[in-house]
Amino acid sequence: MKNSKIKGIALDESLKRLVWHEFKPKCGENTALVPIKYSALNHRDVWISKGKYPGIKPFITLGSDGLVEQEGHRKVINPGLHWGNNENFQSSRFEVLGMPSHGTFAEAIEIEQSKLHDTPRHLSDEEAAALPLAGVTAYRCLLKRCQLKPKEKVLITGIGGGVASMALQYAIAMDADVIVTSGSLEKIDMALKLGAKAGYNYREEDWHNALISDFGGVDVVIDSAGGEGFANLVSIVNPGGRIGFYGGGLGNWTFVNPQKLFWRQISILGSTMGSDQDFREMLDFVSLHNIRPVVDQVFNISDYDEAFRYMSSAAQFGKIVFNNLG
Ligand SMILES: NC(=O)c1ccc[n+]([C@@H]2O[C@H](COP(=O)([O-])OP(=O)(O)OC[C@H]3O[C@@H](n4cnc5c(N)ncnc54)[C@H](OP(=O)(O)O)[C@@H]3O)[C@@H](O)[C@H]2O)c1
Repeated sequence: MKNSKIKGIALDESLKRLVWHEFKPKCGENTALVPIKYSALNHRDVWISKGKYPGIKPFITLGSDGLVEQEGHRKVINPGLHWGNNENFQSSRFEVLGMPSHGTFAEAIEIEQSKLHDTPRHLSDEEAAALPLAGVTAYRCLLKRCQLKPKEKVLITGIGGGVASMALQYAIAMDADVIVTSGSLEKIDMALKLGAKAGYNYREEDWHNALISDFGGVDVVIDSAGGEGFANLVSIVNPGGRIGFYGGGLGNWTFVNPQKLFWRQISILGSTMGSDQDFREMLDFVSLHNIRPVVDQVFNISDYDEAFRYMSSAAQFGKIVFNNLG
């Protein structure tokens, strides 16, 4: 494989169209060149395909999540590169696998050996491929930044999302009471089956007041939507509570009342992916609690256009996986 070219999925020179392309691995000193069995989509890949991400370049293989097999061992890839030495925040060199460096939507990947980790044994290949990016993002946001404690009440918004569905399972493993929101009643039902206590449709104008009247508020909120609806999250959180957020797909927060934040001693905690230590701890946590990422659907990688459209439409509950051999 060393001298041969690798096929992968990238944006063409127009930066608007996904195409198969071929590239040669660099074969660096501390890197391994390994075939990829399964990979998984993250919303980041969709943002990139729509031109809504900084530093987009053509002919860079997309994809951050992957399961590889190396000398008979199943390994997952830690997609966070160059975090640096400070556990509190990433270095200026931090990047995510799959832009600007070649990612996992390919036949094979050249990756630093230190980024390959033994796969939790209870996971299927597809579940393992679905775990890395969503798993570490949910872990850091919920457990490191927001420090969720047993018996606390936590609201997780947009529960159909890949990260949100991981956060749901972590919170249940922590013996917290989990409440969710979704734009789909079917997804709320799925969350209830996974152990959530209640769910509200964020498309209904007064959903936050219904939550307050049913539960009196929550101790922790986990969100990635942002936008106007963020103000509702501020009203829901109890005094001394924490709001962790790792995205802002719906844009700027508006109408957020500062008095509601300072008077009630509320912390707003931004979070992005996680350090190498977070990644190792996440794998241990997932093994300890037998947590399985929810895989919504497995596409053959040759059907990548369909898979990207599916994620754009937010039809999924959990993760969308590619069979890289298909
Ligand atoms: N900072 C980081 O390190 C990091 C890491 C991962 C992801 N992210 C960001 O986090 C976001 C989610 O990523 P993902 O990969 O989990 O995406 P995903 O699997 O595509 O999930 C997106 C979810 O957003 C939810 N949503 C849509 N409108 C909403 C609203 N008004 N209120 C609440 N939720 C709403 C939907 O939930 P329902 O289907 O239930 O309605 C949808 O399933 C993206 O913006 C992504 O870029 C950031």
